[in-house]
Amino acid sequence: MGKDVIIACDFASREQVFSFLDKFEGRKPFVKIGMELFYAEGPSIVREIKARGHKIFLDLKLHDIPNTVEKAMRVLSNLDVDMVNCHAAGTTAMLQGALKGLTRADGTRPMLIAVTQLTSTDQASMEKDLLIEKPIADVVMHYAKVAKEAGLDGVVCSPLEAEKVHANCGKDFVTVTPGVRFADGEKGDQKRVMTPSEARKIGSDYIVVGRPITQAEDPVAAYERCVKEFVGE
Ligand code: C5P
Repeated sequence: MGKDVIIACDFASREQVFSFLDKFEGRKPFVKIGMELFYAEGPSIVREIKARGHKIFLDLKLHDIPNTVEKAMRVLSNLDVDMVNCHAAGTTAMLQGALKGLTRADGTRPMLIAVTQLTSTDQASMEKDLLIEKPIADVVMHYAKVAKEAGLDGVVCSPLEAEKVHANCGKDFVTVTPGVRFADGEKGDQKRVMTPSEARKIGSDYIVVGRPITQAEDPVAAYERCVKEFVGE
């Protein structure tokens, strides 16, 4: 599994994302495009970033009936992205539809990662709003197993859950972990955080890092530091 740092490009416009990426000159970091940028600029932003040579994690978190998700995933697969995601809560039929839609005629496909419970959901809101009364850690692990059995490649999870996900679903089941901060950095609104080197030690496969890189005085140096700590390059 290729360990890598994925930069969360949480920008509002094409101009902002390109002025950020231009700073990297020769380097081509793996980037995450989320709903804000995608909805603002449409699929052309994905094609343009891809044409510049970046790998792309398209973080659109699909969740709908299986037929709709299958068709939407077919469109995303044709955009030639490297990683996409959907909600495990869509259940097995939707996850299988997603996989089917993503798979290209030649059998290749982007990696498909499941969202388990969002980290913004806590035990109280899960019980009250979703009527799920099991401990949230068990729910997350159950969703990971459902995703694995449906044939997905991994899950987005907190770095604190990555070790357990690997123990339950195997070391090849990919963990993509946000909530990463430098030991000497600001936490911002992230509550449960790990440093890149801690994330490496507990076995995260990919870390998703946004503001510690995008808001840094020297984003390229912050990215290089992240790669050095996480991948050891
Ligand atoms: O700026 P920061 O490093 O906190 O960015 C983390 C990125 O990962 C953001 O794009 C955020 O939406 C995403 N994310 C997260 N926690 C999750 C799932 C996604 O922080 N559980």
